[in-house]
Amino acid sequence: MNKREFIKKSVAGALGIMLVPSFLKGANSNAKLRTAHIGVGNMGMEDLKAVASHSAVDVVALCDVDAKNLSVAHKMHPGARIFSDYRTMLKEMGNEIDAVIVSTPDHTHAPASLMAMNMNKPVYCQKPLTHYVSESREMKKLAAEKGLVTQMGIQVHSFYDYKLATLLIQSGIIGKVHTVHAWSPKNWGYDGPLPEGEDPVPEQLDWNLWLGTSKKRPYKKGMYHPGNWRKLMDYGCGTLGDMGVHIFDTPYNALELDVPRTITTQCRPTNGFGFPEHNIVTYEFPATPYTAKSLKWIWYDGKGAPKMSEDLMLPGMEAKKDTKAQKDANAEHKVSLDAGIAAENELPEQGAMFVGEKGRLLLPHFMQLPRKISNGKYVDISKEIAKVSKEHNLGEPIRNYNLEGPKHYHQFVDACLGKGTTTAPFDYAARLTETILLGTIAGRFPGETLHWDAEAGKFKEEKANKYLSGDYREF
Ligand SMILES: NC(=O)c1ccc[n+]([C@@H]2O[C@H](COP(=O)([O-])OP(=O)(O)OC[C@H]3O[C@@H](n4cnc5c(N)ncnc54)[C@H](O)[C@@H]3O)[C@@H](O)[C@H]2O)c1
Repeated sequence: MNKREFIKKSVAGALGIMLVPSFLKGANSNAKLRTAHIGVGNMGMEDLKAVASHSAVDVVALCDVDAKNLSVAHKMHPGARIFSDYRTMLKEMGNEIDAVIVSTPDHTHAPASLMAMNMNKPVYCQKPLTHYVSESREMKKLAAEKGLVTQMGIQVHSFYDYKLATLLIQSGIIGKVHTVHAWSPKNWGYDGPLPEGEDPVPEQLDWNLWLGTSKKRPYKKGMYHPGNWRKLMDYGCGTLGDMGVHIFDTPYNALELDVPRTITTQCRPTNGFGFPEHNIVTYEFPATPYTAKSLKWIWYDGKGAPKMSEDLMLPGMEAKKDTKAQKDANAEHKVSLDAGIAAENELPEQGAMFVGEKGRLLLPHFMQLPRKISNGKYVDISKEIAKVSKEHNLGEPIRNYNLEGPKHYHQFVDACLGKGTTTAPFDYAARLTETILLGTIAGRFPGETLHWDAEAGKFKEEKANKYLSGDYREF
């Protein structure tokens, strides 16, 4: 079944009755936003707490294929109706739901979001927006056609330091940027074999619903649910999709990038099942007002990332030769593995380095001020920081995740209620996600440069085009 048939079938009978979001019609007189949450374990629980912390939110529906996770969320919102199948929830409660939050594994983002959007529901969807490029494009198109409020779950987009870094880059603090390095030593890859046999499905889990539109596969304990699906091509998007989408968000936003022209991924040969455990992905983008003639973006992931280079040397850091950096690089150079503040001569565990004509800007991930380096020394940019903070009303840095966290969600709720706009709507999120997904596709052809024709939505290399979309299973 293709995507269109799936969506048509899913919304049959539910469409047509909700041409305008119900709260805008005044059906909900107390002006509360009635939210439905699909996936309420782990990040879904964080999403639920953050959305529900808005005083104008009424959580009316909860859905999860894991009855244990559902029951925890239900105890917090006993008045909400509970479901294991989002299709049933949307069909039965269509007129009682104003907005939908999708916090499932990546392969279910688009099927659930598209169904909700087709029913005119605003959607907050976790990152990366989708599993396939075709789905991102479809979600962007539908959101625009219907004028829906949307937001992707890249909450750090709304944090002080990221907004600050964007403004500093755009103010020209390091001149035009020609290269960005970004890295995460996390390993959401799997180099092992495809597991054999089958394990009993835990009583609380509906495995068929978890698989959703993806192809049928026997359940194996510890391989998929929860969380480990990220490492596998049928469900997740590897470390690039998981962390790259956060860490690349600021360079992407600050430099006003669109989709890249070429993508080259260095990694092991594909096994068709798990993402490689170590990847270096090089993108080349056309020029924008904030870049040199072109922009090179290099992503490094897996243990030992990043591969060291002159661009990543910090003042006071000992020069060390990069030999087997991708395998054992924690010993190769100083990387702070403490998620806290890295020492001045240590690269933060995760982050991005902008390289421009007037110096470099290091942006740790996350909740740390950007640092400028020029001629091998740190440069005091406190005056520039104070200036852009004041000009753009950024306020003070809040280094408390629990206080910063809800901002991005409240922005979505407010926008749904007609106040303000979101900063990571699907128009933006789809292009960022497309860029990220092109890198994961290039990982199927290690060392080969793929050429992307954004207008046609195709690679020049025909063999790569089949990975841009996938069939939906009827379930
Ligand atoms: N923004 C962030 O900082 C951040 C952090 C972690 C995860 N995420 C994103 O959140 C999403 C979920 O990640 P996770 O770590 O919570 O995964 P997880 O596997 O730990 O939890 C997923 C939850 O969704 C439920 N679920 C799975 N399929 C479902 C379906 N078809 N219908 C309803 N519920 C379903 C699971 O039972 C589970 O409760 C992913 O897209 C991930 O990339 C974002």
